[in-house]
Amino acid sequence: MCGIVAYVGHREASPIIIKGLKRLEYRGYDSAGIALMNGDLSVYKKKGKVADLEAYLASQDTHGNIGMGHTRWATHGEPNDVNAHPHYSTSRNIAIIHNGIIENYASLKKLLIEKGHTFQSDTDSEVFINLIEDIRANNNCTLPEAVRLAMHEVVGAYAIVVLAKDSPNQLIAARKGSPLVVGVGEGEYFLASDATPIIEYTNEVVYLNDYELAIINNGELDIRTKEDVKQTPYVQRLEMELESIEKGGYEHFMLKEIFEQPRSILDSMRGRMIAESNHLMMSGIREFENKFVNANRIIIVACGTSWHAGLVAEYLIEDLARIPVEVEYASEFRYRNPILNEKDIVIAISQSGETADTLAAIELAKSKGATIFGICNVVGSSIARATDAGAYTHAGPEIGVASTKAFTAQVTVLTLIAMIIGSKRGTLETTKLHELMVELETIPSKVEEALQLNDQIIKIAEQYKDVANCIYLGRGYNFPVALEGALKLKEISYIHAEGYPAAEMKHGPIALIDEQMPVVVIATKDSSYEKVVSNVQEVKARKGKVIAIVTEGDTTIPAMADHVIEIPETSEHLMPLLSVIPLQLLSYHIAVMRGCNVDQPRNLAKSVTVE
Ligand code: G6P
Repeated sequence: MCGIVAYVGHREASPIIIKGLKRLEYRGYDSAGIALMNGDLSVYKKKGKVADLEAYLASQDTHGNIGMGHTRWATHGEPNDVNAHPHYSTSRNIAIIHNGIIENYASLKKLLIEKGHTFQSDTDSEVFINLIEDIRANNNCTLPEAVRLAMHEVVGAYAIVVLAKDSPNQLIAARKGSPLVVGVGEGEYFLASDATPIIEYTNEVVYLNDYELAIINNGELDIRTKEDVKQTPYVQRLEMELESIEKGGYEHFMLKEIFEQPRSILDSMRGRMIAESNHLMMSGIREFENKFVNANRIIIVACGTSWHAGLVAEYLIEDLARIPVEVEYASEFRYRNPILNEKDIVIAISQSGETADTLAAIELAKSKGATIFGICNVVGSSIARATDAGAYTHAGPEIGVASTKAFTAQVTVLTLIAMIIGSKRGTLETTKLHELMVELETIPSKVEEALQLNDQIIKIAEQYKDVANCIYLGRGYNFPVALEGALKLKEISYIHAEGYPAAEMKHGPIALIDEQMPVVVIATKDSSYEKVVSNVQEVKARKGKVIAIVTEGDTTIPAMADHVIEIPETSEHLMPLLSVIPLQLLSYHIAVMRGCNVDQPRNLAKSVTVE
């Protein structure tokens, strides 16, 4: 939540910062602002999107080689010009941008007001900068020292950048809990919440660790801990390409990402599985193979779409590897005093690798001795670094707020994991394993086929774009897909949608069904097919409108349903990778037809770094 960017070097700072903020807008987009050193320490900020700020800046003096910017997702204080970042201190000599939440801001604010500090906004971030100013004045110390000391006073999460009027060549940054990357260029430095604003200029980056402070002064980078211990920066070379974070001719990132799935699924398998030679290997698992083979239990923690991928994994792992699996919302798990021990494995799934609740769930599980395995998409992210072992999903950057290709990449990696553990434990016999491997290899081309349904789905979307409610039903492996389909629709089109296990419909949702109610039923040929046929009949008997996702060649469901979307046949273990595709497309087109901003839906953010 909230994106931050800063620059110091030989170029004009403002265009770099604005472009960077646009790349980070997925993290928040209710207001934006920029601070520049142009003779003075000037702050410009506006409610609305980065484009609104950009338009406002056109009439301002934005020259300067050092500056910082912020795109906000409101936590403390409504989205308006005043609450937008950057925030000045009382003297207006220093300014801050902040991503995170300061939990003890109210008590700090009270103390600071008693000492004469004044506040313009309702934000916790303005408290942070005044605290720094107060510490600097009381201790008569340098600004970096004041920032370092302030890190001992604040409780909560932060990635901050501080600029000072009297230090026109200095950027100070610090983090705890929220991500911060330093880009190291030729005589220039960048700071950002992730690497996307940086890679156009340099692929050399340093990921700041929690409780570290980066001081960039006169072309030098100095990293220290909050205990003032000097650190040697570990410079990493990123492989990310610029085109992977651009729209590439698509109208929206979401559509581009849906269409990228044949490739992203393949990339998530690459090097890990070759059916022909029976090669199946994942380095993260190999290290902890014995732990996995002898695990008592696997607990999956995640949020949102990643939690849905976790539910698919529950079916996969229990079926193929015969280890009991529990899937937990990270936000509940972390406060529940869960029972865990050294024989438990916790799998944390997160696209961004920054979700605050998932990170906290990991810390809790670690403290109870469990082994933590991470499945993340963003390389170098906090979760990837907090786990004992893990596997990246290799889906490439996902910019659309509603997750699509990250979900199928997560399911792919989880399928490989279930197959590996199953074969090591002897619960998945060799012939069956080989069949699954061969079938998994065909999935990218079958996803390609499913994407050809786009035009047909546009026609269905036209008929249902104005509905107020929608029900999604599925059973077995398709139950999590029903949840995911409903989540996609509500996230981006603001239509109320509910996903349900098809049989459970009788215990409530059936009361909602009338001739106005669209019911999306995932009714592919699998072990629960006959049961789902009955569920479709139950919906039709109450005059509901059935949009059915069926296996190619099915004749039974098409005789009953109002609309039929045919997807290729595959093993039921792999079906979520195909059945989710039409649901992603349906949500996308309905949202576009309703005039919604699909890449940046209201109130949401891609990376939820606050609890
Ligand atoms: C937010 C995003 C979702 C995502 C969820 C979990 O709600 O909008 O798309 O599924 O966070 O994020 P993670 O990065 O941990 O997968």
